[in-house]
Amino acid sequence: MTGRNDEAGRAPDAGPEERRGFLGKVSGLAMSIGLIGGYGAFGAVAARYLYPAKADPKSWFFVAVLREFEVGSSIAYRAPSGARINITRRGVGESLADFSALSSTCPHLGCQVHWEAVNERYFCPCHNGAFDHEGKAIAGPPAEAGQRLSTFPLKIEKGVLYIEVPTAELAQVELADEVPTGPGQDPCLFQRFPTREV
Ligand code: FES
Repeated sequence: MTGRNDEAGRAPDAGPEERRGFLGKVSGLAMSIGLIGGYGAFGAVAARYLYPAKADPKSWFFVAVLREFEVGSSIAYRAPSGARINITRRGVGESLADFSALSSTCPHLGCQVHWEAVNERYFCPCHNGAFDHEGKAIAGPPAEAGQRLSTFPLKIEKGVLYIEVPTAELAQVELADEVPTGPGQDPCLFQRFPTREV
């Protein structure tokens, strides 16, 4: 009686053939999963290549009426994204060659640069960095590193100057107002967070 119950409750031992078949199925399944993973990763890379991420949205914004924009002066412009930009009028003319729009954030360590009309340059007080009117570094650590200030497009319509800037809410690398700048101040020691103000 007991022996019959044992036989009924226990599966008969699998033979070598069945074990081989089982192992074959398991390894086949593992291989399939690996192939699917591999093709999936390849597909993701190919899709990113064929359909690159969309650029940040941009818009044109009013800057100034030309007749009110003094020659040699610079406007500290704050884009909706929080980006800080120096828009400078260098010439008396009313063509785009008389203006420049450059990021005011120094590419060296993030201090704020300002326009020096007498020297025809942008100056960074943190480490005596300097940039020409096109944003190319001409002195200090930024020049040694071959850095430059990023530029923003301008246009003139009916005596009014406009700038094209990103409209994304969050600036990536802008400094807060409270961050001290100037000799002896290292902005890298301060927290960076976005600000919103035009
Ligand atoms: S942060 Fe501008 S020169 Fe160093």
